Amino acid sequence: MYVLGIESSCDETSVSVVKDGKTILSNIVSSSLQLHKKYGGVVPEIASRMQLETISKVADCAIRQAGIKLEALNLVSVTNGPGLSGSLLVGISFAKSVSLCLGIPLLGINHLESHIYANFLNQRDIKLPCVALVVSGGHTSLFYLQGFTKIETLGQTLDDAAGEAFDKVAKLLGMGYPGGPLIEKLARLGDSKKIKFKCSGTRGAFDFSFSGIKTAVLYYAQRNMQNAKHAQAYADIAASFQETVIDTLIDKTISAAWSKKVRSILVGGGVAVNSRLREKFFQASKAKGLNCFFPPKELCLDNAAMVAGLGYQLFRQGRISSLGLSLELN
Ligand code: KG4
Ligand code: ZN
Repeated sequence: MYVLGIESSCDETSVSVVKDGKTILSNIVSSSLQLHKKYGGVVPEIASRMQLETISKVADCAIRQAGIKLEALNLVSVTNGPGLSGSLLVGISFAKSVSLCLGIPLLGINHLESHIYANFLNQRDIKLPCVALVVSGGHTSLFYLQGFTKIETLGQTLDDAAGEAFDKVAKLLGMGYPGGPLIEKLARLGDSKKIKFKCSGTRGAFDFSFSGIKTAVLYYAQRNMQNAKHAQAYADIAASFQETVIDTLIDKTISAAWSKKVRSILVGGGVAVNSRLREKFFQASKAKGLNCFFPPKELCLDNAAMVAGLGYQLFRQGRISSLGLSLELN
């Protein structure tokens, strides 16, 4: 079964063809990131305009690279939320027209669930149930996964997402956007034990809060960095901040795995690209006798292969959307 996946929830426009939910035949990603850099974050109007300008070309390219005829497609699977509404609408409208023109079914997909599914692409076989952590620029959520149609939210961020905290800390240290990769690079040169930061406590054991640590970094920088021109001081802040966020993510995910009595942890989303997060997650899981899985780095960021793959699984379990498919922003 050939599924056309479409992802347009933020600043990436991606179209993919996936065979039988696992084999990626093409996965084209075009990003408008460069246009947002000078504003220090994604500008929704620019993002949706670029979605509109690129989606047909990206789709053409994905079909050509997959080496199949349009008529071979059996399903069109599209992200319908959460995300930026203007951007999502472009992908949804495009998917509806493909469905109508080719006479194939349409299926709306949740963006966070597709980030989890990235772990199952490329023939990877992971035993369920498990606990899944999605860490991206817009979300930080913990799920209990019993099946692709049985996903329970255990907790989520009460304020900023983890990726958003990386982005904001980078900005207040005078670095560019997106901040995650820049903080990761700078942190390699720093001492993570130099400054004692802490993530705020939450009433729910599996909820997160990252806006407090961002403010703590701001106050620390204002107090100590006035005359500190040497790079080492910045690297120490980056390393101490990154380590605290990573330790919080790992502690909560491992305790969720223990409380649900599962043996496997899945991680997904843009922050899952972070090498220090990957390394520490593998170490901590192993020490607790748990298995930990990450998608390959290129499948952690927004892409349509994860949307096509999850679409295949859900369709086989009877899910289908009508042409009235609308946005689901929460
Ligand atoms: O999943 P994603 O591509 O888009 C959303 O759905 O939000 O995630 C983007 C986020 C950004 O906040 C970016 O700073 C963060 O992922 N990110 C990273 C790294 N690479 C990307 N955060 C920490 N370390 C990285 N290496
Ligand atoms: Zn995402």
